[in-house]
Amino acid sequence: MSDLLGYKGKRVIVSGCFSGMGEATARALIDLGAEVHGVDFKDSALPLASFNRVDLRDPSTIDAAVAAIGGKVDALFNCAGLPGGGAFPALDTFKVNFVGTRHMTEAVLPLMGPGGAIVSIASTGGLGWSRRIPVHMELMQVQGSQAAVDWAEAHPEHVAEGYAFSKEAVIVWTQFMCARLIKQGIRINCTLPSPTQTPMMATFQATSGKDVVDAAAEPLGRYSTPEEQANGLLLVNSDMAAIVTGVVLPVDGGFMGSLATGQIDISAMMKRG
Ligand SMILES: NC(=O)c1ccc[n+]([C@@H]2O[C@H](COP(=O)([O-])OP(=O)(O)OC[C@H]3O[C@@H](n4cnc5c(N)ncnc54)[C@H](O)[C@@H]3O)[C@@H](O)[C@H]2O)c1
Repeated sequence: MSDLLGYKGKRVIVSGCFSGMGEATARALIDLGAEVHGVDFKDSALPLASFNRVDLRDPSTIDAAVAAIGGKVDALFNCAGLPGGGAFPALDTFKVNFVGTRHMTEAVLPLMGPGGAIVSIASTGGLGWSRRIPVHMELMQVQGSQAAVDWAEAHPEHVAEGYAFSKEAVIVWTQFMCARLIKQGIRINCTLPSPTQTPMMATFQATSGKDVVDAAAEPLGRYSTPEEQANGLLLVNSDMAAIVTGVVLPVDGGFMGSLATGQIDISAMMKRG
């Protein structure tokens, strides 16, 4: 297989390797010849170089996993996530999607050198990020996982059901970190998947309403597959994307473009929910 993407022999970490997009990403990286270290709070059946059980709500499990992996790390794929909408406590969703993802990244960064790459899965659910940048910039200044959780507990008016705010925070944090990390030759990006057929989908349909979910899949005419989402992550973390950083990349079959050009009416879409 050609190695244009440059993963052969690379040491990579994939969070959320148990199912969905993380599982598809880890599987593709194994096929591409990478040394794949997986973390999740559920065991993985994949032939990984190592698996460490991590609960992203608990920073000590993240630190232990990263210490066990050790060595040099070339790429990090932050794929683990929890839905919101009342299906889980809002604070848990915030902890997994933002606080734990940030903690994981900060733990891995000292193991990375020039050429290192980080990608996180955000969501089109975080598309409201630009409406409250001052709030997110306040959160960006809050260092440390416990302090970020304390901040969230003090601001339920922003965190709300947890999912949208946590994904907005990932989007803002990605853009906030890119300029300082590129000085070390390290890139950081995130993706915005459109509705994707993974185990999480049943919760999205139950909490947001199937009509709302389907509206976001309308340009493509179907839900995307975990493999299509994995490919977007592989592309942006690959050697081919050498100076691509701070990018919020829709992997969405045209949903964001349709919104931006008024071809999907977001308020009509929300009324359907
Ligand atoms: N499926 C969609 O339509 C969709 C759309 C936009 C964004 N996303 C995002 O994509 C990412 C992947 O989700 P998916 O759709 O593949 O769903 P999924 O449920 O199949 O995968 C989520 C993974 O995260 C792991 N995880 C959950 N809580 C954890 C915790 N506390 N600690 C460690 N691991 C934990 C799960 O075990 C699982 O392996 C998530 O961040 C999700 O928010 C999904």
